[in-house]
Amino acid sequence: MAASWLAGAIFYEIYPQSFYDTNGDGIGDINGIIEKLDYIRSLGCNALWLNPCFDSPFKDAGYDVRDYKLVAPRYGTNNDLYRLFGEAHKRGVRVLLDLVPGHTSEEHPWFRESQRAERGEYSDRYIWTDFCFERATGLNFVGGESERSGVYVLNFFKCQPALNYGFLHPSEPWQIPTDHPAAVATREAMKNVMRFWLDHGCDGFRVDMAESLVKFDDPERSGTGAVWRDVRAMLDAEYPEAALIAEWSNAPLAISCGFDAAFCLNDPWTGYPSLMRDYKLVHPDGTDNSYFRREGDGDIRRFLKPYLEQYEATKHKGYISLITCNHDTVRPSWNLDTRELKLAYAFLFTMPGVPFLYYGDEIGMRYQELPSKEGGYFRTGSRTPMQWDGGRNLGFSGGCPDSLYLPVDPAPDAPTVAAQEADPEALLHTVRALLALRTERPELRENANLEIVHAEKGEAFVYRRGGLLLALNPSGAPASAPVHAEGMKTIYAIGGGRAETGKLTLEAQSFVVLA
Ligand code: NOJ
Repeated sequence: MAASWLAGAIFYEIYPQSFYDTNGDGIGDINGIIEKLDYIRSLGCNALWLNPCFDSPFKDAGYDVRDYKLVAPRYGTNNDLYRLFGEAHKRGVRVLLDLVPGHTSEEHPWFRESQRAERGEYSDRYIWTDFCFERATGLNFVGGESERSGVYVLNFFKCQPALNYGFLHPSEPWQIPTDHPAAVATREAMKNVMRFWLDHGCDGFRVDMAESLVKFDDPERSGTGAVWRDVRAMLDAEYPEAALIAEWSNAPLAISCGFDAAFCLNDPWTGYPSLMRDYKLVHPDGTDNSYFRREGDGDIRRFLKPYLEQYEATKHKGYISLITCNHDTVRPSWNLDTRELKLAYAFLFTMPGVPFLYYGDEIGMRYQELPSKEGGYFRTGSRTPMQWDGGRNLGFSGGCPDSLYLPVDPAPDAPTVAAQEADPEALLHTVRALLALRTERPELRENANLEIVHAEKGEAFVYRRGGLLLALNPSGAPASAPVHAEGMKTIYAIGGGRAETGKLTLEAQSFVVLA
Protein backbone atom coordinates (compact mmCIF):
# COMPACT_ATOMS: atom_id res chain seq x y z
CA MET A 1 0.00 0.00 0.00
CA ALA A 2 1.40 3.32 -0.95
CA ALA A 3 -0.92 6.22 -0.21
CA SER A 4 -1.07 6.42 3.58
CA TRP A 5 -3.89 9.01 3.43
CA LEU A 6 -6.28 6.39 2.06
CA ALA A 7 -6.55 4.85 5.54
CA GLY A 8 -8.98 7.59 6.61
CA ALA A 9 -10.42 8.48 3.23
CA ILE A 10 -14.13 8.91 2.54
CA PHE A 11 -14.79 9.63 -1.12
CA TYR A 12 -17.40 11.68 -2.90
CA GLU A 13 -17.80 10.81 -6.57
CA ILE A 14 -18.63 13.68 -8.90
CA TYR A 15 -19.99 13.35 -12.41
CA PRO A 16 -18.77 16.79 -13.50
CA GLN A 17 -21.45 17.32 -16.14
CA SER A 18 -24.13 17.39 -13.46
CA PHE A 19 -22.72 18.81 -10.26
CA TYR A 20 -22.84 22.60 -10.35
CA ASP A 21 -22.90 25.01 -13.28
CA THR A 22 -21.33 28.41 -12.52
CA ASN A 23 -21.44 29.97 -16.00
CA GLY A 24 -25.03 29.27 -16.95
CA ASP A 25 -24.29 27.09 -19.99
CA GLY A 26 -26.34 24.22 -18.59
CA ILE A 27 -23.46 21.92 -17.78
CA GLY A 28 -21.45 21.53 -14.60
CA ASP A 29 -17.93 22.90 -14.44
CA ILE A 30 -14.71 22.74 -12.44
CA ASN A 31 -15.39 26.10 -10.84
CA GLY A 32 -18.70 24.69 -9.66
CA ILE A 33 -16.89 21.88 -7.87
CA ILE A 34 -14.60 24.45 -6.23
CA GLU A 35 -17.63 26.43 -5.02
CA LYS A 36 -19.11 23.32 -3.45
CA LEU A 37 -15.97 22.06 -1.69
CA ASP A 38 -17.15 23.34 1.67
CA TYR A 39 -20.43 21.50 1.21
CA ILE A 40 -18.55 18.28 0.40
CA ARG A 41 -16.37 18.78 3.45
CA SER A 42 -19.50 19.38 5.56
CA LEU A 43 -20.70 15.91 4.66
CA GLY A 44 -17.55 14.42 6.16
CA CYS A 45 -15.95 13.47 2.85
CA ASN A 46 -12.25 14.18 2.49
CA ALA A 47 -11.57 12.94 -1.02
CA LEU A 48 -13.05 13.32 -4.48
CA TRP A 49 -13.20 11.12 -7.53
CA LEU A 50 -14.01 13.08 -10.67
CA ASN A 51 -15.31 11.17 -13.67
CA PRO A 52 -13.25 11.98 -16.79
CA CYS A 53 -13.10 15.72 -17.38
CA PHE A 54 -10.77 15.64 -20.39
CA ASP A 55 -11.21 16.70 -23.98
CA SER A 56 -13.50 14.19 -25.67
CA PRO A 57 -16.21 13.82 -28.31
CA PHE A 58 -18.33 12.46 -25.43
CA LYS A 59 -19.66 9.35 -27.09
CA ASP A 60 -19.19 7.62 -23.74
CA ALA A 61 -19.53 10.59 -21.40
CA GLY A 62 -15.78 11.32 -21.51
CA TYR A 63 -14.54 7.72 -21.20
CA ASP A 64 -13.51 8.27 -24.82
CA VAL A 65 -10.54 10.57 -24.26
CA ARG A 66 -9.26 12.69 -27.15
CA ASP A 67 -6.56 14.50 -25.18
CA TYR A 68 -5.43 13.12 -21.82
CA LYS A 69 -3.75 16.35 -20.82
CA LEU A 70 -6.45 18.88 -21.62
CA VAL A 71 -9.55 19.70 -19.57
CA ALA A 72 -12.63 19.60 -21.80
CA PRO A 73 -13.53 23.23 -22.55
CA ARG A 74 -17.08 22.66 -21.39
CA TYR A 75 -15.75 22.16 -17.84
CA GLY A 76 -13.24 25.02 -17.94
CA THR A 77 -9.49 25.09 -18.33
CA ASN A 78 -6.49 23.20 -17.03
CA ASN A 79 -5.87 26.14 -14.74
CA ASP A 80 -9.31 25.69 -13.20
CA LEU A 81 -8.45 22.09 -12.43
CA TYR A 82 -5.08 23.06 -10.95
CA ARG A 83 -6.94 25.58 -8.79
CA LEU A 84 -9.36 22.83 -7.71
CA PHE A 85 -6.40 20.73 -6.53
CA GLY A 86 -5.13 23.67 -4.48
CA GLU A 87 -8.50 24.65 -3.01
CA ALA A 88 -9.28 21.03 -2.17
CA HIS A 89 -5.94 20.56 -0.44
CA LYS A 90 -6.49 23.70 1.64
CA ARG A 91 -9.58 21.98 3.02
CA GLY A 92 -7.91 18.63 3.56
CA VAL A 93 -9.60 17.09 0.51
CA ARG A 94 -7.70 14.85 -1.93
CA VAL A 95 -8.59 14.60 -5.59
CA LEU A 96 -8.50 11.52 -7.81
CA LEU A 97 -8.86 11.89 -11.55
CA ASP A 98 -10.23 9.14 -13.77
CA LEU A 99 -7.52 7.44 -15.82
CA VAL A 100 -8.70 5.56 -18.89
CA PRO A 101 -5.70 3.44 -19.88
CA GLY A 102 -7.37 0.70 -21.93
CA HIS A 103 -8.64 2.76 -24.85
CA THR A 104 -8.88 6.25 -26.27
CA SER A 105 -11.45 8.00 -28.39
CA GLU A 106 -11.36 7.13 -32.08
CA GLU A 107 -10.61 10.87 -32.45
CA HIS A 108 -7.40 10.75 -30.42
CA PRO A 109 -4.43 11.91 -32.56
CA TRP A 110 -2.59 8.65 -31.73
CA PHE A 111 -5.43 6.70 -33.29
CA ARG A 112 -5.69 8.99 -36.31
CA GLU A 113 -1.97 8.42 -36.91
CA SER A 114 -2.34 4.67 -36.48
CA GLN A 115 -5.04 4.58 -39.18
CA ARG A 116 -2.57 5.71 -41.86
CA ALA A 117 -1.48 3.24 -44.54
CA GLU A 118 2.22 4.07 -44.14
CA ARG A 119 3.91 2.91 -40.97
CA GLY A 120 4.87 5.44 -38.33
CA GLU A 121 5.39 6.01 -34.62
CA TYR A 122 1.78 5.13 -33.72
CA SER A 123 1.15 2.17 -36.04
CA ASP A 124 1.29 -0.28 -33.13
CA ARG A 125 -0.20 1.97 -30.44
CA TYR A 126 -3.51 0.17 -31.07
CA ILE A 127 -4.21 -3.45 -31.94
CA TRP A 128 -4.58 -3.98 -35.68
CA THR A 129 -4.64 -7.15 -37.77
CA ASP A 130 -2.47 -7.24 -40.89
CA PHE A 131 -5.11 -7.35 -43.57
CA CYS A 132 -8.49 -5.75 -44.11
CA PHE A 133 -10.28 -9.14 -44.15
CA GLU A 134 -8.34 -10.67 -41.28
CA ARG A 135 -10.58 -10.89 -38.27
CA ALA A 136 -9.30 -10.35 -34.72
CA THR A 137 -10.72 -13.63 -33.48
CA GLY A 138 -11.87 -13.57 -29.87
CA LEU A 139 -11.96 -9.78 -29.74
CA ASN A 140 -14.43 -7.13 -30.85
CA PHE A 141 -13.14 -5.29 -33.88
CA VAL A 142 -13.98 -2.81 -36.62
CA GLY A 143 -12.95 -2.87 -40.27
CA GLY A 144 -13.55 -0.72 -43.31
CA GLU A 145 -12.97 2.67 -41.73
CA SER A 146 -9.31 3.39 -42.39
CA GLU A 147 -6.86 3.69 -45.26
CA ARG A 148 -4.74 1.12 -43.45
CA SER A 149 -5.43 -2.50 -44.43
CA GLY A 150 -6.42 -4.24 -41.23
CA VAL A 151 -9.16 -4.26 -38.62
CA TYR A 152 -8.72 -2.66 -35.21
CA VAL A 153 -9.74 -4.01 -31.84
CA LEU A 154 -12.25 -2.33 -29.53
CA ASN A 155 -12.07 -2.16 -25.76
CA PHE A 156 -15.67 -1.15 -25.09
CA PHE A 157 -17.97 0.83 -27.42
CA LYS A 158 -17.22 1.31 -31.12
CA CYS A 159 -15.77 4.76 -30.35
CA GLN A 160 -13.09 3.23 -28.05
CA PRO A 161 -10.22 1.48 -29.89
CA ALA A 162 -8.05 -0.65 -27.59
CA LEU A 163 -4.58 0.58 -26.77
CA ASN A 164 -1.89 -2.00 -27.40
CA TYR A 165 -0.13 -3.37 -24.32
CA GLY A 166 0.77 -6.55 -26.19
CA PHE A 167 -0.39 -10.14 -25.95
CA LEU A 168 0.58 -12.59 -23.25
CA HIS A 169 1.11 -15.43 -25.73
CA PRO A 170 1.15 -13.96 -29.23
CA SER A 171 -0.17 -16.47 -31.76
CA GLU A 172 -0.57 -14.31 -34.87
CA PRO A 173 2.04 -12.15 -36.60
CA TRP A 174 0.08 -9.00 -35.70
CA GLN A 175 0.03 -9.83 -31.98
CA ILE A 176 3.09 -8.26 -30.33
CA PRO A 177 4.52 -9.54 -27.03
CA THR A 178 4.17 -7.42 -23.91
CA ASP A 179 7.87 -6.50 -23.97
CA HIS A 180 7.77 -5.31 -27.58
CA PRO A 181 8.99 -1.69 -27.83
CA ALA A 182 5.57 -0.57 -29.08
CA ALA A 183 3.76 -2.16 -26.10
CA VAL A 184 6.31 -0.61 -23.75
CA ALA A 185 5.76 2.75 -25.48
CA THR A 186 2.01 2.57 -24.75
CA ARG A 187 2.72 1.91 -21.10
CA GLU A 188 5.26 4.74 -20.92
CA ALA A 189 2.81 7.12 -22.58
CA MET A 190 0.24 6.31 -19.89
CA LYS A 191 2.83 6.85 -17.16
CA ASN A 192 3.51 10.26 -18.65
CA VAL A 193 -0.18 11.13 -18.48
CA MET A 194 -0.11 10.20 -14.80
CA ARG A 195 3.04 12.23 -14.16
CA PHE A 196 1.48 15.23 -15.88
CA TRP A 197 -1.51 15.37 -13.53
CA LEU A 198 0.41 14.36 -10.41
CA ASP A 199 2.91 17.14 -11.10
CA HIS A 200 -0.01 19.55 -11.19
CA GLY A 201 -1.31 18.41 -7.83
CA CYS A 202 -3.74 15.55 -8.25
CA ASP A 203 -3.55 12.79 -5.65
CA GLY A 204 -3.97 9.71 -7.81
CA PHE A 205 -6.37 7.93 -10.10
CA ARG A 206 -9.46 5.82 -10.26
CA VAL A 207 -8.49 3.49 -13.08
CA ASP A 208 -11.10 2.58 -15.65
CA MET A 209 -11.32 -1.10 -16.72
CA ALA A 210 -7.99 -1.72 -15.05
CA GLU A 211 -7.94 -5.40 -15.93
CA SER A 212 -8.41 -4.84 -19.65
CA LEU A 213 -4.88 -4.02 -20.83
CA VAL A 214 -3.10 -7.16 -22.04
CA LYS A 215 -5.13 -9.30 -24.39
CA PHE A 216 -5.78 -12.99 -23.90
CA ASP A 217 -4.43 -12.65 -20.39
CA ASP A 218 -4.37 -15.65 -18.07
CA PRO A 219 -6.81 -15.95 -15.13
CA GLU A 220 -4.14 -14.55 -12.79
CA ARG A 221 -3.82 -11.54 -15.08
CA SER A 222 -0.06 -11.92 -15.19
CA GLY A 223 0.22 -9.77 -18.34
CA THR A 224 -1.91 -6.87 -17.15
CA GLY A 225 -0.56 -7.30 -13.63
CA ALA A 226 3.01 -6.81 -14.85
CA VAL A 227 1.98 -3.49 -16.43
CA TRP A 228 0.44 -2.28 -13.17
CA ARG A 229 3.34 -3.43 -11.05
CA ASP A 230 5.61 -1.45 -13.33
CA VAL A 231 3.34 1.60 -12.96
CA ARG A 232 3.33 1.12 -9.20
CA ALA A 233 7.14 0.99 -9.14
CA MET A 234 7.20 4.32 -10.96
CA LEU A 235 4.72 5.82 -8.48
CA ASP A 236 6.60 4.45 -5.47
CA ALA A 237 9.79 6.03 -6.76
CA GLU A 238 8.38 9.35 -7.93
CA TYR A 239 5.00 9.89 -6.19
CA PRO A 240 4.87 7.68 -3.10
CA GLU A 241 1.60 9.22 -1.84
CA ALA A 242 -0.29 8.76 -5.10
CA ALA A 243 -3.31 6.48 -4.84
CA LEU A 244 -4.47 3.97 -7.44
CA ILE A 245 -8.00 2.61 -7.17
CA ALA A 246 -9.08 0.00 -9.65
CA GLU A 247 -12.32 -0.54 -11.42
CA TRP A 248 -11.69 -4.25 -11.25
CA SER A 249 -14.29 -6.34 -9.57
CA ASN A 250 -11.68 -8.61 -8.04
CA ALA A 251 -10.00 -6.78 -5.18
CA PRO A 252 -7.49 -9.53 -4.28
CA LEU A 253 -6.20 -9.68 -7.84
CA ALA A 254 -6.16 -5.90 -8.34
CA ILE A 255 -4.35 -5.32 -5.04
CA SER A 256 -1.81 -8.04 -5.80
CA CYS A 257 -1.11 -6.16 -9.05
CA GLY A 258 -0.19 -2.94 -7.25
CA PHE A 259 -3.49 -1.16 -6.64
CA ASP A 260 -4.24 0.37 -3.26
CA ALA A 261 -7.92 -0.44 -3.50
CA ALA A 262 -10.59 -1.87 -5.77
CA PHE A 263 -14.32 -1.43 -5.97
CA CYS A 264 -16.79 -4.09 -4.97
CA LEU A 265 -19.16 -3.68 -7.92
CA ASN A 266 -22.43 -5.00 -9.18
CA ASP A 267 -21.15 -8.37 -10.38
CA PRO A 268 -23.20 -11.02 -8.58
CA TRP A 269 -20.16 -12.99 -7.48
CA THR A 270 -18.93 -10.11 -5.27
CA GLY A 271 -22.03 -10.42 -3.10
CA TYR A 272 -22.58 -6.66 -3.31
CA PRO A 273 -25.81 -6.72 -5.38
CA SER A 274 -27.50 -8.81 -2.70
CA LEU A 275 -27.33 -5.81 -0.37
CA MET A 276 -29.16 -3.19 -2.42
CA ARG A 277 -29.67 -4.24 -6.03
CA ASP A 278 -31.02 -7.76 -6.00
CA TYR A 279 -33.82 -7.00 -8.43
CA LYS A 280 -35.01 -7.11 -12.01
CA LEU A 281 -31.70 -7.87 -13.70
CA VAL A 282 -31.26 -10.84 -11.40
CA HIS A 283 -34.92 -11.79 -10.99
CA PRO A 284 -36.79 -11.02 -14.21
CA ASP A 285 -40.10 -11.73 -12.41
CA GLY A 286 -39.65 -8.46 -10.52
CA THR A 287 -38.94 -9.79 -7.04
CA ASP A 288 -36.49 -7.80 -4.99
CA ASN A 289 -34.69 -9.69 -2.26
CA SER A 290 -32.19 -6.96 -1.46
CA TYR A 291 -31.05 -7.33 2.13
CA PHE A 292 -31.82 -3.71 2.97
CA ARG A 293 -35.43 -3.91 1.81
CA ARG A 294 -37.84 -4.09 4.68
CA GLU A 295 -39.35 -7.09 2.90
CA GLY A 296 -35.97 -8.45 1.74
CA ASP A 297 -34.81 -11.97 2.44
CA GLY A 298 -32.95 -11.03 5.63
CA ASP A 299 -29.89 -13.05 4.73
CA ILE A 300 -26.67 -11.05 5.06
CA ARG A 301 -24.66 -14.21 4.47
CA ARG A 302 -25.20 -13.89 0.72
CA PHE A 303 -23.01 -10.80 0.94
CA LEU A 304 -20.70 -11.89 3.71
CA LYS A 305 -19.44 -15.12 2.23
CA PRO A 306 -17.89 -13.62 -0.91
CA TYR A 307 -16.99 -10.37 0.84
CA LEU A 308 -15.11 -12.02 3.68
CA GLU A 309 -13.07 -14.10 1.26
CA GLN A 310 -11.98 -10.90 -0.46
CA TYR A 311 -11.47 -9.09 2.83
CA GLU A 312 -9.25 -11.82 4.29
CA ALA A 313 -7.20 -11.93 1.10
CA THR A 314 -6.62 -8.16 1.08
CA LYS A 315 -6.36 -7.32 4.78
CA HIS A 316 -3.25 -5.21 5.51
CA LYS A 317 -2.49 -5.12 1.78
CA GLY A 318 -5.17 -2.85 0.36
CA TYR A 319 -8.77 -1.76 0.60
CA ILE A 320 -12.12 -2.84 -0.72
CA SER A 321 -14.34 0.07 -1.70
CA LEU A 322 -18.05 -0.24 -1.09
CA ILE A 323 -20.14 2.30 -2.99
CA THR A 324 -23.59 3.78 -2.49
CA CYS A 325 -23.90 3.75 -6.27
CA ASN A 326 -21.89 5.10 -9.18
CA HIS A 327 -22.39 6.61 -12.61
CA ASP A 328 -22.90 3.10 -14.06
CA THR A 329 -25.55 1.83 -11.65
CA VAL A 330 -29.15 2.63 -10.81
CA ARG A 331 -29.41 4.96 -7.80
CA PRO A 332 -30.17 3.17 -4.53
CA SER A 333 -33.33 5.22 -3.95
CA TRP A 334 -34.82 3.39 -6.94
CA ASN A 335 -35.80 0.51 -4.68
CA LEU A 336 -34.99 1.69 -1.15
CA ASP A 337 -37.04 4.20 0.82
CA THR A 338 -35.45 6.74 3.18
CA ARG A 339 -35.32 4.43 6.18
CA GLU A 340 -33.90 1.61 4.08
CA LEU A 341 -31.28 3.97 2.66
CA LYS A 342 -30.28 5.08 6.14
CA LEU A 343 -29.68 1.49 7.18
CA ALA A 344 -27.83 0.62 3.99
CA TYR A 345 -25.53 3.63 4.38
CA ALA A 346 -25.02 2.81 8.07
CA PHE A 347 -23.65 -0.54 6.99
CA LEU A 348 -21.57 0.71 4.05
CA PHE A 349 -20.01 3.50 6.11
CA THR A 350 -19.08 1.32 9.09
CA MET A 351 -17.37 -1.40 7.09
CA PRO A 352 -13.61 -1.64 6.51
CA GLY A 353 -12.04 -0.17 3.41
CA VAL A 354 -12.54 3.12 1.63
CA PRO A 355 -16.22 4.02 1.07
CA PHE A 356 -17.59 6.02 -1.86
CA LEU A 357 -20.66 8.25 -1.79
CA TYR A 358 -22.04 9.13 -5.23
CA TYR A 359 -23.14 12.78 -5.57
CA GLY A 360 -26.81 13.18 -4.70
CA ASP A 361 -27.10 9.85 -2.89
CA GLU A 362 -26.76 11.81 0.36
CA ILE A 363 -30.21 13.30 -0.29
CA GLY A 364 -31.65 10.21 -1.96
CA MET A 365 -31.76 11.70 -5.45
CA ARG A 366 -33.96 9.60 -7.66
CA TYR A 367 -33.15 7.60 -10.73
CA GLN A 368 -34.87 9.21 -13.75
CA GLU A 369 -36.26 7.36 -16.76
CA LEU A 370 -34.57 9.25 -19.63
CA PRO A 371 -33.40 8.67 -23.17
CA SER A 372 -29.73 7.85 -23.47
CA LYS A 373 -27.27 10.75 -23.31
CA GLU A 374 -23.62 10.48 -24.38
CA GLY A 375 -23.60 6.68 -24.40
CA GLY A 376 -25.23 6.48 -21.00
CA TYR A 377 -28.20 4.26 -21.89
CA PHE A 378 -29.86 3.08 -18.66
CA ARG A 379 -27.06 4.80 -16.73
CA THR A 380 -28.30 8.22 -17.87
CA GLY A 381 -30.98 8.16 -15.17
CA SER A 382 -28.31 8.24 -12.45
CA ARG A 383 -26.45 11.16 -14.03
CA THR A 384 -28.98 14.01 -13.70
CA PRO A 385 -28.15 17.43 -12.22
CA MET A 386 -27.52 17.75 -8.52
CA GLN A 387 -30.49 19.16 -6.62
CA TRP A 388 -29.29 22.00 -4.46
CA ASP A 389 -32.40 24.01 -3.61
CA GLY A 390 -35.93 24.89 -4.72
CA GLY A 391 -34.81 27.63 -7.12
CA ARG A 392 -34.32 27.67 -10.88
CA ASN A 393 -33.19 24.26 -12.15
CA LEU A 394 -33.13 23.17 -8.50
CA GLY A 395 -30.10 25.38 -7.99
CA PHE A 396 -27.93 23.45 -10.46
CA SER A 397 -27.68 26.13 -13.13
CA GLY A 398 -28.85 29.66 -13.80
CA GLY A 399 -29.21 28.74 -17.47
CA CYS A 400 -32.30 28.10 -19.51
CA PRO A 401 -33.94 24.76 -18.55
CA ASP A 402 -33.80 23.68 -22.22
CA SER A 403 -30.04 24.03 -22.21
CA LEU A 404 -29.38 21.68 -19.31
CA TYR A 405 -27.12 18.69 -19.85
CA LEU A 406 -29.96 16.53 -18.55
CA PRO A 407 -33.30 17.63 -17.10
CA VAL A 408 -33.58 18.00 -13.34
CA ASP A 409 -35.95 15.76 -11.40
CA PRO A 410 -39.40 17.20 -12.26
CA ALA A 411 -41.18 15.78 -9.19
CA PRO A 412 -42.74 18.41 -6.90
CA ASP A 413 -41.12 16.63 -3.94
CA ALA A 414 -37.70 16.22 -5.56
CA PRO A 415 -35.22 16.08 -2.66
CA THR A 416 -32.86 19.04 -2.34
CA VAL A 417 -29.94 19.87 -0.09
CA ALA A 418 -31.65 23.04 1.16
CA ALA A 419 -34.86 21.27 2.13
CA GLN A 420 -33.01 18.49 3.90
CA GLU A 421 -30.76 20.92 5.76
CA ALA A 422 -33.94 22.21 7.39
CA ASP A 423 -35.32 18.76 8.26
CA PRO A 424 -33.58 17.04 11.18
CA GLU A 425 -35.00 13.67 10.10
CA ALA A 426 -33.63 13.93 6.57
CA LEU A 427 -31.20 11.44 5.03
CA LEU A 428 -28.60 14.19 4.65
CA HIS A 429 -28.20 14.45 8.42
CA THR A 430 -27.89 10.69 8.79
CA VAL A 431 -25.12 10.68 6.21
CA ARG A 432 -23.33 13.46 8.10
CA ALA A 433 -23.74 11.68 11.42
CA LEU A 434 -22.48 8.37 10.05
CA LEU A 435 -19.46 9.94 8.39
CA ALA A 436 -18.69 11.91 11.55
CA LEU A 437 -18.82 8.66 13.50
CA ARG A 438 -16.46 7.00 11.02
CA THR A 439 -14.08 9.94 11.29
CA GLU A 440 -14.19 10.14 15.09
CA ARG A 441 -13.78 6.43 15.77
CA PRO A 442 -10.48 4.98 14.56
CA GLU A 443 -11.99 1.47 14.94
CA LEU A 444 -14.25 2.27 11.99
CA ARG A 445 -11.53 3.69 9.80
CA GLU A 446 -8.96 0.97 10.06
CA ASN A 447 -8.94 -1.85 7.62
CA ALA A 448 -8.55 -4.60 10.18
CA ASN A 449 -10.77 -5.68 13.04
CA LEU A 450 -13.92 -6.76 11.32
CA GLU A 451 -15.35 -9.66 13.22
CA ILE A 452 -18.68 -11.24 12.42
CA VAL A 453 -20.39 -11.92 15.73
CA HIS A 454 -23.76 -13.23 14.54
CA ALA A 455 -25.10 -13.69 11.02
CA GLU A 456 -28.15 -15.89 10.59
CA LYS A 457 -31.04 -15.46 8.19
CA GLY A 458 -33.91 -13.49 9.70
CA GLU A 459 -32.01 -12.58 12.89
CA ALA A 460 -30.19 -9.42 13.89
CA PHE A 461 -26.79 -9.17 12.23
CA VAL A 462 -24.04 -8.29 14.68
CA TYR A 463 -20.43 -7.39 13.87
CA ARG A 464 -17.51 -5.95 15.75
CA ARG A 465 -15.08 -3.24 14.69
CA GLY A 466 -12.35 -2.99 17.30
CA GLY A 467 -14.12 -2.55 20.64
CA LEU A 468 -17.38 -1.41 19.03
CA LEU A 469 -20.34 -3.72 18.64
CA LEU A 470 -22.63 -2.91 15.71
CA ALA A 471 -26.04 -4.47 15.12
CA LEU A 472 -28.42 -4.25 12.22
CA ASN A 473 -31.99 -5.32 11.60
CA PRO A 474 -33.36 -4.21 8.22
CA SER A 475 -36.63 -6.16 8.53
CA GLY A 476 -40.05 -4.81 9.39
CA ALA A 477 -40.24 -6.81 12.65
CA PRO A 478 -38.02 -6.86 15.74
CA ALA A 479 -35.08 -9.26 15.52
CA SER A 480 -32.63 -10.63 18.08
CA ALA A 481 -29.22 -12.21 18.25
CA PRO A 482 -27.68 -14.33 21.03
CA VAL A 483 -25.05 -11.76 21.94
CA HIS A 484 -23.81 -10.37 25.22
CA ALA A 485 -24.15 -6.61 25.05
CA GLU A 486 -25.30 -5.97 28.60
CA GLY A 487 -23.92 -2.77 30.05
CA MET A 488 -22.69 -1.42 26.74
CA LYS A 489 -23.49 2.17 25.89
CA THR A 490 -25.29 3.18 22.68
CA ILE A 491 -23.14 5.73 20.87
CA TYR A 492 -25.24 5.89 17.71
CA ALA A 493 -28.64 4.56 16.72
CA ILE A 494 -31.18 4.56 13.95
CA GLY A 495 -34.26 3.20 15.70
CA GLY A 496 -33.25 1.33 18.80
CA GLY A 497 -32.34 -1.83 20.60
CA ARG A 498 -32.33 -3.51 24.01
CA ALA A 499 -29.73 -5.74 25.63
CA GLU A 500 -30.83 -8.48 28.01
CA THR A 501 -28.62 -11.18 29.42
CA GLY A 502 -27.12 -12.95 26.44
CA LYS A 503 -29.56 -11.43 24.00
CA LEU A 504 -29.57 -8.27 21.90
CA THR A 505 -32.92 -7.28 20.38
CA LEU A 506 -33.33 -4.61 17.73
CA GLU A 507 -36.54 -2.86 16.89
CA ALA A 508 -37.81 -3.10 13.30
CA GLN A 509 -35.49 -1.39 10.80
CA SER A 510 -32.83 -0.42 13.28
CA PHE A 511 -29.09 -0.04 13.60
CA VAL A 512 -27.11 0.50 16.77
CA VAL A 513 -23.48 1.07 17.60
CA LEU A 514 -22.50 0.06 21.14
CA ALA A 515 -19.29 0.85 22.97
C1 NOJ B 1 -16.31 1.87 -17.02
C2 NOJ B 1 -16.88 3.22 -16.80
O1 NOJ B 1 -17.26 3.35 -15.45
C3 NOJ B 1 -18.03 3.36 -17.75
O2 NOJ B 1 -18.80 4.50 -17.47
C4 NOJ B 1 -17.49 3.38 -19.15
O3 NOJ B 1 -18.56 3.40 -20.07
C5 NOJ B 1 -16.63 2.15 -19.43
N1 NOJ B 1 -15.76 1.82 -18.34
C6 NOJ B 1 -15.77 2.33 -20.67
O4 NOJ B 1 -14.70 3.22 -20.40
